Amino acid sequence: MARILNGKALANEIQNELRQNIANWISLGHRAPSIRCILVGNDPASHTYVNNKILAARNVGIDAEVVLHDSTISEEQLISEIQRLNNDSNVDGILVQLPIPDGIDERKVCNAVTPEKDVDGFHVINVGRLCLDMPTIVPATALAVIEMLKRFNIETLGRNAVVVGRSKNVGMPIAMMLHSDKNHDSRLGMDATVTICHRYTPKEKLEFYCQNADIIISATGVPGLIKANMVKPGATVIDIGITKITDANGKSRLVGDVDYDEVSKIAGAITPVPGGVGPMTVAMLMQNTFQAARYLRDKTANLQ
Ligand code: GUN
Repeated sequence: MARILNGKALANEIQNELRQNIANWISLGHRAPSIRCILVGNDPASHTYVNNKILAARNVGIDAEVVLHDSTISEEQLISEIQRLNNDSNVDGILVQLPIPDGIDERKVCNAVTPEKDVDGFHVINVGRLCLDMPTIVPATALAVIEMLKRFNIETLGRNAVVVGRSKNVGMPIAMMLHSDKNHDSRLGMDATVTICHRYTPKEKLEFYCQNADIIISATGVPGLIKANMVKPGATVIDIGITKITDANGKSRLVGDVDYDEVSKIAGAITPVPGGVGPMTVAMLMQNTFQAARYLRDKTANLQ
């Protein structure tokens, strides 16, 4: 049976470290790091996600508030709200919960957040820096996966990694970091050979690439996409998918992209859903917020 990579326990550990580091920072005379989460409309899932972020932030000593707006807000109004927070010296991190209503340009909104406060890492400058292996703010889900590979000692150098899903906020940044060059930048340097699969990768090719992978990372939201016959014995399988399904008994539960029961008999290591990448993502957002707070006060503080 595969080793279970317990993201919940690791996230708790990281949050404990952060709580201590933030307390030390405050004891040096700094105010608490702060984050503002802009939430537009009343999508229940978005409200749940934002509430979780706020609770997690407060739990480590970050000052966190939701900035709630009606779904009728215009693009112009939303951008001027972001600018107000950009100019507020009591705010270190700004996050606009996605999705935002149709008719508002998501790219314009992401680029309206000042890059130094962009704790989601979605601003074009931060994305560009990531693609150049430069220190930046890394999107939290991608950072969660990388941190899990590091802390669970999963070797990446020279290994075959397949990323299934090419979203700009998840699959793409993970693929970028996995093939980062240690010779160019020893800070990250993961040096894997990376294949990116997506909706137009033929099924038999997806199987072929996965069967040759030492590490499979799936972020598609397609339950059961990764089956046991696609996994090389001993491979590491990281499941970022999270989909609510209703089972035959009418009970709803969360499932990932990976057929966990079967794949866990073949893989060397596997993340559960829930309790894998999800809790780690929240912990990494907190880490990004503290990093932004330190950087805003001291431009020599290290970025990721
Ligand atoms: N919606 C789903 N995931 C995310 C995320 O990581 N950040 C933001 N801002 N919105 C999201």
